[in-house]
This record gives sequence, C-alpha cells and structure tokens, in this order.
Amino acid sequence: MAIELKDNRFHLYNDEMSYIIEISRQKDLLNVYYGARVDAEEIETKRDRPGAFCSCADDNDPDYSLSVMGQEYPSAGACDFRSPAYEITNAKGMHTPELKYRSHEIINGKPKINGLPAVYTESENEAQTLIITAADEFYGLEVKLFYTVFEKLNVICRHAEMRNCGKSDMMLNNAQSVSLDFPAGEYEYIHLEGAWAREKHIDRNSVHKGIQGFESRRGASGHTENPFMMFFDKGSNEDYGNVYGISLVYSGNHRFIIEQEAAETVRVQAGINPFGFSFKLSEGEVFTTPEAVLVYSDTGFAKMSNTFHKLYRTRLCRGVWRDKTRPILINHWEATYFDFTADKLLDIAKSAAKIGVELFVLDDGWFGHRNDDFSSLGDWYVNEEKLGCTIAELAEKINQQGLKFGLWFEPEMISPDSDLYKKHPDWAITVPGAKPHLGRHQLILDLTREDVREYIIGFLTDILSSANIEYVKWDMNRNMTDVYSENLSPERQGEFYHRYILGLYEILETVTSRFPNVLFEGCSGGGGRNDPGMLYYMPQNWASDDTDATERLYIQYGGSMVYPASTVGAHVSAVPNHQVGRISSLKTRGTVAMNGAFGYELDLSILSEEELNEMKEQVKFYKENRELVMTGEYYRLLNPFTSRHSAWMYVSEDKKEALVYYVVKTARPSNEVVHLKLKGLNPVAKYNVGGKIMSGRTLMNHGIIIDDTEHDGNCRIIKLYNI
Ligand code: DGJ
Repeated sequence: MAIELKDNRFHLYNDEMSYIIEISRQKDLLNVYYGARVDAEEIETKRDRPGAFCSCADDNDPDYSLSVMGQEYPSAGACDFRSPAYEITNAKGMHTPELKYRSHEIINGKPKINGLPAVYTESENEAQTLIITAADEFYGLEVKLFYTVFEKLNVICRHAEMRNCGKSDMMLNNAQSVSLDFPAGEYEYIHLEGAWAREKHIDRNSVHKGIQGFESRRGASGHTENPFMMFFDKGSNEDYGNVYGISLVYSGNHRFIIEQEAAETVRVQAGINPFGFSFKLSEGEVFTTPEAVLVYSDTGFAKMSNTFHKLYRTRLCRGVWRDKTRPILINHWEATYFDFTADKLLDIAKSAAKIGVELFVLDDGWFGHRNDDFSSLGDWYVNEEKLGCTIAELAEKINQQGLKFGLWFEPEMISPDSDLYKKHPDWAITVPGAKPHLGRHQLILDLTREDVREYIIGFLTDILSSANIEYVKWDMNRNMTDVYSENLSPERQGEFYHRYILGLYEILETVTSRFPNVLFEGCSGGGGRNDPGMLYYMPQNWASDDTDATERLYIQYGGSMVYPASTVGAHVSAVPNHQVGRISSLKTRGTVAMNGAFGYELDLSILSEEELNEMKEQVKFYKENRELVMTGEYYRLLNPFTSRHSAWMYVSEDKKEALVYYVVKTARPSNEVVHLKLKGLNPVAKYNVGGKIMSGRTLMNHGIIIDDTEHDGNCRIIKLYNI
C-alpha cells in the first residue's frame, strides 16, 4: 500500500486497487482513474474534446476545458457546467471561486475528524492519508481534501475541510464529501429506498442522461433513503463487475447524485444535502464535511459488502461491545405496548430466563405519566405508580432472574404535554409565533443549544448511574419541521440541520464514553437513522419496526449490502404479525431473526410449553452460532426481490464452518428443484453437510438440492463443518 507522487500524479493504491489524481499544468486537480490496480504512468488523462460552447481555462491550450475533464473537487462557475462539489458566496456576492493545487502532505494512519464520526485505524500501518491543499487566492478560500487508503481493504475514505482565509465573511452553500468522475460508459446504480417499517429496499436503475439520485430532507438520514449507493458497470451482479459502494458517515440530511452529461461521462457525488444548508465562515473559520467511505470491488456486490462489513464492524464501531458477544434480548414493546405493570414485565422476564434469554429491555412508557404517545417525553423520572418501584429496584428484580436490564429513552424529544415543555417551551424546535407541526404528538429539542445538550447529558447520566442499567435503546420518532432556532442569528439559520447533528454527536460521544460498558442500540422508529454515523456510537441499530419474517427478508437483504449482521437488531414477534397480519411459523420467524443481534419481542408469559421449548432450542442454536453470524463472510444466494425464496450464508474466516439459511417466501405446488449453489467455501476442502460429505467445489458448483414441498416450516438452516 502506498501513496506516491510521480510526474505530478498521486497514485493511491494497494494490491487490488488504484486511485489516480493529477495536478495539471494549470494546477487543477484532475480525477484521472479509480478502479482495479493499474500502473499509474501508463494511464492517459481523460480529456474529451470540449467542442463549441465550452469555456477554456487556459488560452495557451485551447482544448483545455474543465467542462469535459474529470475533477477531484469541482468548482462552480469556472468552466465546468456540471454539478459542483462546493459553492461559496463572498461578502460582495461573488460566487465563482476556482481551486488550484497549493501543497500536499502524506501521513501514516488516519487522522480523526473533529466532532464527526469516522472510520479509524488502530495502527499506523493499516492505512495512509493524503491531504491535498488547494486554494483560490482571490476569494481567500482554502480547501483541504483528505484521502485515506487502506492496505488490506479496498477502501478510500474522503472528506474535505473548507477554510476562510480572507478578511470578510463568506457563505458556504454546498460542501460535498466526495465527487468522482467516471469515463463514458454504461452504468447502473442501486440505492436503499423505503418508508417506515419498509426500510432498505433494493432499487436498481440504469444511469441515464441528466441528474438522478436521492436525498433526505428530514433532518435525519431517514427511513426513505439510506445514505448509501452502489454504482457499477451495467450488468454487474453478486460475483461480477466493477462496483463502487459509497456510504456517508452522517445521520442528517444527505444527497447522492449521479450526473451524466453531453460527453457521456458520469459524475457521482455524496454529501450533506444543500437543501436548507448555508454555513457562514468568518475569517479563519473552518467547515468540515462528513466522511464518505468508498469501497471498490472488481468482482461484484458480495466482495463490496464483505469489505463494508469488515470495515464497519472493526473500524467504525467502537468500545467494548464492538467485539463482545451480544446478548439475546427480550423487549416487551410488542407484547404490551404502553399497557404494563411491573408484575407483567417480571412474568415476561421469568419466561425469558427459562429459555436462555440474557437481557430484558424496558421500552417506552416507564416515565412521567406516559400511558400513550401523547405525553411525557422530556420528563425522565420513573412512573412509580405504574411500576410500583424505582428503576433500580426493577433492574435488581430482573437481575435476580439472571437477566441484564436495559432501558428505552427518546432523549431528543419533548412532548407539549410535559413538565419540561411547561418550563422550557423555547427548547423545542418551532418557528416562534407560528403553530408548530407535531409528529407522533411530539416536538424535537433544539440540540444546537448548549443548555439543552447539558440537560440531556445530565438526565442520562443520573439515570444510568442510578441503577444497574447495562443496555440503552436510543429512539427518535419523528422528522424535523419548523426548522428555526433562537440560538442562531438570522444569517446562521442555514446551519441548523447540521448543527443539530453535531449537537447529537457531542451528546452521544459524552454519554457513551461516560458509560463505556453499556451496550447502546440506536433506533428511530426502526430504521429511520440506520446509518454509519450512529454506528460509530452505538454498535447495534434496530433495523425496522416491521418484525414480520417475510418483510424482514427484504429489509435484511437490502441492509446487508452495506451493514454487517452484528449491527442489525432482529426479533421474533407474535403472530398474526402486528404490522402486516401475516402468520409465519415460529421456525421461520426464528430463522430470519437469528441473522443479527437476536431477540424476542412478544409476551412469552402466555406461550405454551411447546412454543417455549422451540424457542429454547432457537436460543441454544443461536448461542452456538452467533460468532459466525457476527463475524463471518456474508454471501447472498437467492434474492427475495426477484425470486420466491431467499437464501444467504456465512462462512468463517478460516472457511472451516459455514451456516446456510434458506426461506421460502411464496410456497406453491409443483415446484422446481432448487440447486442452492453455495459461495465462499474452500473448493478442495471436504464439508460435513448433515452427515453427507461434500467438497467445497461440489457445494459451490452443483449446490445443495432443496425440495421445498417437504413442508417443514418453509425454511432451513444448514450447518457445514469442514472435516
Ligand atoms: C419506535 C421503536 O422503533 C419501537 O421499537 C418502540 O421502541 C417504540 N418506538 C416506542 O415508542
């Protein structure tokens, strides 16, 4: 791995990948190549003919037009008419800066990004970082572009810092984390679209002329568009094709665009959504963009996913729980919703203990006078009348059952019906004087305010120190409207969305480092903030409020493109399912939920012995196999979006063990015989497959024969041992 500068070209490479940046004679930073490993000196700079109506950046070189060249961080208004990577306006209203290379630095390892979550290294040998400084002297703008390249993973992390080096203020109206220019070609892209309880669905499209893409304007990364995109050669699949995954380590408004222009070249950008964004930079002030993580695969989607999984599991998630075995939990939410007593909770906990569950989670409804979702957010004192005891006492009773105790919070919210609102109505995000728009009957606290952040850190510290609380579910149940803060001057209102997220990250950093042994699970009505930014603070994320096994096949398949199973909260719930009314067998529900941080979310205290025994077996199986699920290489075998069944598998790093999951989505008579071709095995090793000995190559080329008319719960888990 190295970053080299030769003949005005930076070559960022490892054994499998190259990324080439050229400093042109005119000092522009040109985006020359990104893909499988090449020899940098042999690559020609992409230079399409400019033609009529192209402005030229150099009178001595009339063909030199940025409008048709690949660029690293394209400016607006200076020859290139495509989407700029950043936009500024100076105090005089001028807005056409042009960046020119000034200097660079190459360092070992990866520097931290102040105040923002980011991928990290544990030793300086894992990665190298190139920092290029470019500037526009006239505007007094200096931009630092950061590129970290990893030695063992095909990963490049990018972000930018914008500094006002002039004397007067400037407004930054756009600052993308990454801009890439790909040569003319036929491309496709996948993004993970959805809605509440239907997150992370695969949406595959052909790239066409013009601008296309997706974004969030919700003040959160959102259920509707995950901050992730796969851009690839047309026709790529799980095992074939040049694939570029782009994942934004950010939990707020994001935007991903793809622009194909006249010369058929394609520009891809990702970063903070310019919607509602403007950031005032006074003299000497710096704005730092979130990090974009780029993963390259020369052989399709599976390799890209495995690179993201390994990187995010080991170099984004942090703390003791990063590598620790995650406890199997019971959450009472779908069992009782708000309607519970301490006795009911203890009954559920007792049954959970009997089947081997390890953690009990007290969800919404334990504080203030909250018996429905109309009140009490902000009043974080226990409702002793309802519980009959303190949190510490309840935790102790749960601990006596042999279970850890966990607690739900929604720290960022305030109910108009709360003591907190009576005391501090100005802490809620509203436009003063205008009627606010409620979401789930609640408002959001203004995290741009220091006093609000201190309040949240304060009550969390008090409660978490007051009892043996070993797990926290951090929920967030509405998106942002009425965006305005009395804390910010009028010209800084465009900073609100971003400053909210910075405030959130500050709180999360403080609380998670104050309570390093607590396991935090992120949640936003399920997957409303399932993003890498949150994973930096919380190694688990409740993937969706939809717990139906079939619906989860889609959600977990889509999510697996980028997020490792260790980060995915997945529970067995009651039937008929509360979201879609479907009745699935307990076997199917368990089979699907075991693909993540596993748990149960139903009233165990009313189940039959037979059901509890089956669950006991599930728990036993999961305990025996959870390390493989958490850390194994992941292969998607059958796609639920395009076929009537779904299948996937995990292979241990040494390829000695594998676990195959197969679920029938739509049962029907007169079926085809399924040849389930496995992946990732050692071709010449022999595996024991339920007593039958087969080589890796037979299993991968001929497959396992499955006849799903056998009616055995419509799903299977097949364990393979290397003999
Ligand atoms: C939304 C979450 O996704 C649910 O799991 C549950 O915690 C509710 N909020 C509680 O209000």
